[in-house]
Amino acid sequence: MTHCPPSADPIDAIYDRYRDAQVLFTGSRLGVFSTLARKAMTADELAVAIQASPRGTRILCDALVSLELLEKNGTVYRNSAVALQYLTDDAPTPRSAILRHSARLYERWAGLSHAVKTGQRVPETWISPELREDEREHALAMADVARSSAQEAAEHLDLTDVKSLIDIGCGPGLYSIEFARRNPLLHATLFDNEKTLEIARHNVEQAGLEERIHYQVGDILTDELRGKFDFVFISNLIHSFSFDQNAAMVRKCAASLKSRGRICIKDFLLNPDRSGPKWQALFAVNMLVNTEYGDCYTLEEIQQWFRDADMDFVEDIEIGNHSCMVIGQKK
Ligand SMILES: C[S@@+](CC[C@H](N)C(=O)[O-])C[C@H]1O[C@@H](n2cnc3c(N)ncnc32)[C@H](O)[C@@H]1O
Repeated sequence: MTHCPPSADPIDAIYDRYRDAQVLFTGSRLGVFSTLARKAMTADELAVAIQASPRGTRILCDALVSLELLEKNGTVYRNSAVALQYLTDDAPTPRSAILRHSARLYERWAGLSHAVKTGQRVPETWISPELREDEREHALAMADVARSSAQEAAEHLDLTDVKSLIDIGCGPGLYSIEFARRNPLLHATLFDNEKTLEIARHNVEQAGLEERIHYQVGDILTDELRGKFDFVFISNLIHSFSFDQNAAMVRKCAASLKSRGRICIKDFLLNPDRSGPKWQALFAVNMLVNTEYGDCYTLEEIQQWFRDADMDFVEDIEIGNHSCMVIGQKK
């Protein structure tokens, strides 16, 4: 009997994927899409406009055509419909801030073996200075993702009886803005650091919700929450913290709930044995290279935090973007 070795396809399908991502990041960083939005151009014309080499610009643009982000007619390049919708500076639903954030993450990922050996995040000094990011830029990147996820979260949460909600680690505030928009009785308090709250405040003003959205500057690990709430919303924060830090955060949030109040934890959850789903397992690696204690967690772990805080588990709701909302209620 002849032995048939396993195919190399699983390896061949993985090892060069970084190329697609880096071509996209570079097109965005160098302003290819925004420049072509003003006028279709040859590679030579574009090279002058973005202050790059003609050879590099031509090779990059042909790769962007192959990824269907640009179109080519003779020697002239223009944006594809996808690029016009998402990749230019004034796109209707922009992704430029999350792409810049991802280009920065990419540099951290290059240090993965350091992170695995030491158990420590990749040092900030390893990131190119032009890709370093402050809290405001981080909030803008989060907004690129939250714009559609906030709609979906709001569709799945019944907040009709909620008059007071606190949004811990609110980032750009888009979830609470959507909750307030759909629930006229709801007042939301946005909790985050000062610089992030400046971005959130701008979004609240744009939405015309100043009268029903309030602010608390703070650190959930060290500061007390002021006030009592019907609902605590925690989106994409537990993955930044250790198991014990999350247990303490849930206890603190539970103590700020009114009778029968609820907590919703939204995040990227792992299967019980932690080895999947693939996207979430790889997001845990993202937390390894980026944070001191971060990780992805399982539904069972969140239920344990609820039990420790004297809360009942109510339900878990799968939504898009690899996310799950887990809801607990104070006894
Ligand atoms: C990944 S972003 C998520 C933002 C938003 N909740 C969302 O889902 O789009 C995490 C947010 O938590 C905030 N954050 C991180 N650590 C925090 C802490 N210890 N206390 C309060 N906020 C914190 C960050 O400033 C950031 O805005």
